[in-house]
Amino acid sequence: MSRLIIVSNRVAPISEGGPAAGGLAVGVYDALKETGGMWFGWSGDVLSSGQPQIAVEERGPVTFATIGLLRRDYDQYYRGFSNATLWPAFHYRADLVQYDRHDFEGYRRVNAWLAQQLVPLLRDDDVIWVHDYHLIPFAQALRAAGVHNRIGFFLHIPFPASQVLLAVPPHRELVEALCSFDLLGFQTKPDLRAFCDYIVNEAGGSVERLDDGLTRIDAFGQTLRAGDYPIGVYPDEIAELAKAGERGKPVRTLKATLHGRKVIMSVDRLDYSKGLVERFRAFERLLDQAPSQRNRVSFVQIAPPTRADLHAYQDIRLRLEAESGRINGRFAELDWTPIWYIHRQYERAVLAALFRASHVGYVTPLRDGMNLVAKEYVSAQDPDDPGVLVLSCFAGAAQELTGALIVNPFDTDGMADALAVALAMPVAERQARHRDMLAQLRQNNVSVWRDRFMRDLSRVGKREAGASAAAGVVPMPLAD
Ligand code: G6P
Repeated sequence: MSRLIIVSNRVAPISEGGPAAGGLAVGVYDALKETGGMWFGWSGDVLSSGQPQIAVEERGPVTFATIGLLRRDYDQYYRGFSNATLWPAFHYRADLVQYDRHDFEGYRRVNAWLAQQLVPLLRDDDVIWVHDYHLIPFAQALRAAGVHNRIGFFLHIPFPASQVLLAVPPHRELVEALCSFDLLGFQTKPDLRAFCDYIVNEAGGSVERLDDGLTRIDAFGQTLRAGDYPIGVYPDEIAELAKAGERGKPVRTLKATLHGRKVIMSVDRLDYSKGLVERFRAFERLLDQAPSQRNRVSFVQIAPPTRADLHAYQDIRLRLEAESGRINGRFAELDWTPIWYIHRQYERAVLAALFRASHVGYVTPLRDGMNLVAKEYVSAQDPDDPGVLVLSCFAGAAQELTGALIVNPFDTDGMADALAVALAMPVAERQARHRDMLAQLRQNNVSVWRDRFMRDLSRVGKREAGASAAAGVVPMPLAD
């Protein structure tokens, strides 16, 4: 059996027997354990000088190979082009796109350098699976370094409509680089459609729907396949975690503090794509329009820090702090705080237990590739007395979780109405909606996602030696 090589910017810290990590990490790690293989990526370290060295660690059949980044590489590749250019553009926030051509050079340089680090570790029959927007030029760099293995790519975030992607000055180079992969995976059909639209209308290429459900892409002198692969979770494991935490301290504390009030729960990295300010205002609208809800419900927003060295993230933090303070100032009473805004990370098991203890899961991103919190919220519920999911139509998860109350996060009144409906929903309807969603989550769990992608990647033709190296792409030297 071929080895599987996973390449991602972050390599999940997973220790045997330790707490379960996120869905992606667990799913990918399982695949690696079954086939044997390697996980390669950034160690998370930023070095002020010197030459980063790969650290290799064997854990059973899995090898973890990680490497630090020099400060300039971190600034240009991670902070700059990945997170100040691609992230906002791919989340439809062209207004936040910051572009610096030196950052783009750094992004390509780091991709080429990482590829060069990986090449000596590769074997001829390895299958390589690259993840996410940090590594779009990775296959192109591997091809230029003479690698002919099968290489797949999965984009965890949305792929934007062409008119938005055009805001990224090197959009053509990026899409051309994507065409060096053998198989491209997107979260949803609308993401795949957006990519195909660019291929046909901006790149002058062609797309053809094949009998096996995949799409054949011909562009930039390359032929490849693309498909939609909505990522899943392990719903039964999450339910176990949630049940195990039911009598734990966090849930006991929450219940003691609520004094029988209902609770609306949200968990998101503090990112401007998550629609946090809009969500706070819709909760405020609920309290405005339905005075009977005052002192009867609290809204808990857990928002761990993320990418705090970027201006746009500092800005959203200040706005959220101002909004929660303002709304609490308006409505709080001596014995009731309407919004509990918590800027801190919690363990996954604690979150699962809190989801189960809450009455409404409030997941309303302005744009999101999938949103695994929505799937985890549903998984964590007690089937006899489940909470209600209020879900943005702009989360990838809305394509599957049709039993949720689907809302438009730009519609404050609509979201307030949905919260009121969710808080009053009779148990029979809650059970029916939950049953449908849980069945869907079980049917498309994270193993199914991974196996479908791996099966399709193993079917695409292996590239012929010399035929696929992207002409004119020269690996760039390491930053000094
Ligand atoms: C999103 C991205 C991931 C990323 C994660 C955390 O989910 O799709 O690739 O790892 O955010 O962001 P960070 O910048 O901390 O890696």
